Amino acid sequence: MKKNLIIFGTRPEAIKMAPLVKEFQKDTKNFETKVCVTAQHREMLDQVLEFFEIQPDYDLDLMKPGQNLYSLTANIIESLQPVLEDFKPDYVYVHGDTTTTMAGSIASFYSGAKVCHVEAGLRTHNKWAPFPEEMNRQITGRVTDYHFAPTLTSKENLQKENVQEDSILVTGNTVIDALLQSVDKVNSSPSILIEELNKVIGDKELVLVTGHRRENHGEGFERICRALKRIAENDSNRLIIYPVHLNPKVQEPVRRVLSDVSNVILIDPLAYQDFIWLMNRSKIIITDSGGVQEEAPSLGKPVLVMRETTERPEAVEAGTVLLVGTDEDLIVNRTLELLNKKEAFDQMSKLHNPYGDGKACERIVKFIKEV
Ligand code: UD1
Ligand code: UDP
Repeated sequence: MKKNLIIFGTRPEAIKMAPLVKEFQKDTKNFETKVCVTAQHREMLDQVLEFFEIQPDYDLDLMKPGQNLYSLTANIIESLQPVLEDFKPDYVYVHGDTTTTMAGSIASFYSGAKVCHVEAGLRTHNKWAPFPEEMNRQITGRVTDYHFAPTLTSKENLQKENVQEDSILVTGNTVIDALLQSVDKVNSSPSILIEELNKVIGDKELVLVTGHRRENHGEGFERICRALKRIAENDSNRLIIYPVHLNPKVQEPVRRVLSDVSNVILIDPLAYQDFIWLMNRSKIIITDSGGVQEEAPSLGKPVLVMRETTERPEAVEAGTVLLVGTDEDLIVNRTLELLNKKEAFDQMSKLHNPYGDGKACERIVKFIKEV
């Protein structure tokens, strides 16, 4: 019997780890699997736990309003010690590139467990973008025993860093597992919120927006908000819906600049199933999110990414994702081009699946069973 501990803390990690939790928990003959949440996020994490019906075995409850990287990192490492000493896992799974991922991998390394990195090998090779995620992912990679790379490109990134080939498995991204497992539930029982939003949207042209990256805080967000205001004011039959991330550094500029614009709707972060519904209903998506860049191509939605660089080049190469950075004029011009020129829109709205086939978790479980 192999003992697994799955650690996550933020909304995207929870979405992308939920299908792995389910897949391991199906096999009680070979595995004892426990879940530890750091709760680096609180409300935004709980929304995901509720949707996927996951009850954590350990909840470190660490989120503090306006938290900083120093104390968050220290608290995660310290709080994981008793969990690791209590359960004594053989394998610990961390996901992606957050502070929970990096601190969780170091604590697991200290405990002597084998570290398994899900969504391994993504790189921009620019330590300041995304910040601090690029370094979080590289540091995690150094203490990882088994690297679950979502694509061939991410495997090649690891090989260039001399990671042994037999410790890497290309799996696809578990975000596609989550998406495919959720789509039916979304369509069969829309929430009351979605029914209300649907009435407000009517036949309007819908632009969906999300944003939260630390490197965009401050001036970047000021430019983003001014651009969104101009896009909204350009056509009153257009609607922008923006579920605003709970980070106070995001809330403040977004609410200050956009609250009074009549065709911009600012709402709280949405439950995953509601967000999928809105992605499906939207004409285009403007975001700086990592996960949304991966989901949108599977839904055939054009995405403008408000970042200078991306560790997810596959969808850019496939033509559904375009990097626009945080230049106000560029965001406005590219968005209006996409909304108004059929040819530009058609080119970017083709269905692509560069990130997986929905079987990533199956592959991970099989690998660990046989290792
Ligand atoms: C974090 C991750 C980022 C990831 C993002 C996903 C780090 C350093 N950053 O960024 O990689 O892309 O999550 O969304 O790991 N807050 C709440 N309730 C919540 C969540 C956040 O109030 O449920 C507020 C709190 O004031 C919190 C702040 O947002 O202190 C920032 O949260 P934090 O996790 O530090 O950073 P994010 O910007 O969310
Ligand atoms: N998401 C959600 N509700 C929202 C906005 C996004 O459930 O209101 C989901 C989205 O479908 C994706 C993930 O959250 O799976 C992305 O999270 P985020 O953008 O916060 O983090 P990142 O992917 O950039 O690390």
